[in-house]
Amino acid sequence: MVPIITIDGPSGSGKGTIARLLADLFGLHCLDSGALYRLVGLATERARVDPSMVERLVAIASAMQVEFKDGCVLLDGEDVTLAIRTEQAGNAASRVAAVPEVRDALLQWQRNYAREPGLVADGRDMGTVVFPEAGVKIYLTASPEERARRRYNQLKEKGLDANLSHLVAEIRERDDRDSNRSVAPLLPAPDALVMESTALSIAEVLGQVSSSVLRVYPELAKKGA
Ligand code: C5P
Repeated sequence: MVPIITIDGPSGSGKGTIARLLADLFGLHCLDSGALYRLVGLATERARVDPSMVERLVAIASAMQVEFKDGCVLLDGEDVTLAIRTEQAGNAASRVAAVPEVRDALLQWQRNYAREPGLVADGRDMGTVVFPEAGVKIYLTASPEERARRRYNQLKEKGLDANLSHLVAEIRERDDRDSNRSVAPLLPAPDALVMESTALSIAEVLGQVSSSVLRVYPELAKKGA
């Protein structure tokens, strides 16, 4: 089995940033599972399909052609890198992600990313459902206010519209929906290392996570720091 590191946590906890840095550091593949749910959310909205129409949702999730290329995300050949990052797409993602059949449709797709030389996967249920056998499981969190502030800065950097108080409200709403759904709710795996990152810098989180990785997968030291 290849090395698998899962990083789960709520929206804006910094898990995407840490996952990418960690994958670069150790030369591993990186799976941004939230992007898959965002793509289904975007495609669903564009097709004007209501999240209650389960068969249509599954058809969309199963048929979409997705490509991750040079930091860009293509949906059926169209560059949707920015379109999937809006709060609207995030909310659409969280609605379709509550549908068990959509999660099933994406399960094997995500598992196929676990190949040589190894994988860093970030999301909500990477350690609990998709890769329960992962050797390192991190659950990264931070206060809703801090997460909203980070999201605000990210959106501004990308030239997208943002309002801090709306973001705090949306983050709380999304946390609530993600934590209380019946399938794969947002929860640390029993064997996850829970890290509260409100007062930590990216470098500090990365340092702690990479030490945990090297304790379990010392062979990765050759590739990384
Ligand atoms: O991580 P990100 O904010 O991009 O995820 C968007 C939404 O996709 C989340 O709010 C969550 O509802 C859903 N998601 C999920 N399971 C994952 C990753 C994301 O349910 N593994």
